[in-house]
Amino acid sequence: MKILVTGGNGFIATNFIKLALDEKFSVTSLDNLSYAGSEDNHKIFENNELYKFLQEDIRNRNIYEIIKKEKYDALINFAAETHVDRSIKDDTSFIMTNINGTHNMLSSCRDLIDKKVLSEKFKFIQISTDEVYGSLNKDENPFTEKSLLKPSNPYSASKASADVIALSYYTTYRFPTIITRCSNNYGPYQYPEKLIPLSINRINGGSKVPIYGDGLQIRDWIHVDDHCRGILKTLELGRLGEVYNFGGNSEMTNIDCLRSIIKSIDPGKNTEELLEYVPDRPGHDVRYAIDSSKSFEELGWEPLETFSSGILKTISWYEENLEWLRTRVNSSEYKNWMVKNY
Ligand code: NAD
Ligand code: DAU
Repeated sequence: MKILVTGGNGFIATNFIKLALDEKFSVTSLDNLSYAGSEDNHKIFENNELYKFLQEDIRNRNIYEIIKKEKYDALINFAAETHVDRSIKDDTSFIMTNINGTHNMLSSCRDLIDKKVLSEKFKFIQISTDEVYGSLNKDENPFTEKSLLKPSNPYSASKASADVIALSYYTTYRFPTIITRCSNNYGPYQYPEKLIPLSINRINGGSKVPIYGDGLQIRDWIHVDDHCRGILKTLELGRLGEVYNFGGNSEMTNIDCLRSIIKSIDPGKNTEELLEYVPDRPGHDVRYAIDSSKSFEELGWEPLETFSSGILKTISWYEENLEWLRTRVNSSEYKNWMVKNY
């Protein structure tokens, strides 16, 4: 199978490509190499003849020509601006990439299907997020695929917009799309602006981890490999026009998440000394929780990693890849963001 992976050089897509190459897929990674995506993430694929890289922006019209020329069997759209805090400071690139960029690819593929350039079996997998459902109270049931979309911030609103445009293409044109919505991922190659790599970096360096508000917000953490296996299953078995949720069965408060990371890195440390309470994120979602029973029943998928096993592997990866981490946290882009946000 020949696939185009957009946003291929970012965190989740890099882990996905590793899996897809293991399955002997022919993979093109397409990425504009924004601050979150980097060519050095793909050094490991350098000698793999099934792998190709294209530097391109999903908002460009050139996307049409690329897809026309290569006639992929599937497009998996990971490309997005992904950091909630950045979307709160300035949402322009979120709207442009997450909505307009996705629309550019949807409409290009639709036209190429109409013209029979793309095969009848072509699939467009839209990688979405549990954040489109908004926030849950502590006693509410987890989100199912039928839950209302109630995004709280510009990032999640832009992702929800892309979802409904893609679904409207299915309803109107029978466009072959499937949507996946996953909870909070952690694992190798995550840009250290996000809570888990940020805290691994800070704790290893002996500095404090900023915790928003009271730290009692709840996230459901999933190891990135479990998410990626779910995407492969979706490609293989998912029904067109459907949405599939993926969660990690690992709901916990941010404080508990950080306590567990501190304990794993340095069991002798007094946890509270390493936490620094900072002002809350505006519109901060209190809780995400995911009901993955549809994916279990239809795709035969379930998460294999527990948080305690997954986080140990993840901490080890960052400790073994200090150069990777340092390149990012020492960049001026990163330092400027830290000053702007904290
Ligand atoms: P990331 O920020 O690490 O990667 C995004 C990639 O997209 C980067 O390589 C970036 O360079 C690229 N990109 C951005 N704008 C682009 C453009 N205009 N053209 C081409 N490439 C562009 O993000 P991630 O965490 O790996 O997330 C990947 C996808 O998964 C996103 O769609 C996100 O919404 C979704 N998702 C993420 C999580 C999570 O916990 N990280 C959970 C559920 C869903
Ligand atoms: O749920 C899926 C989403 O998970 C994805 O769609 C997003 O792309 C991804 O960034 C992630 O969003 P979150 O906002 O949940 O992730 P983040 O790592 O930014 O924050 C996790 C929690 O930790 C959240 O409640 C905010 C809090 N936090 C975050 C940072 C960066 C802190 O308390 N301190 C921090 O410094």
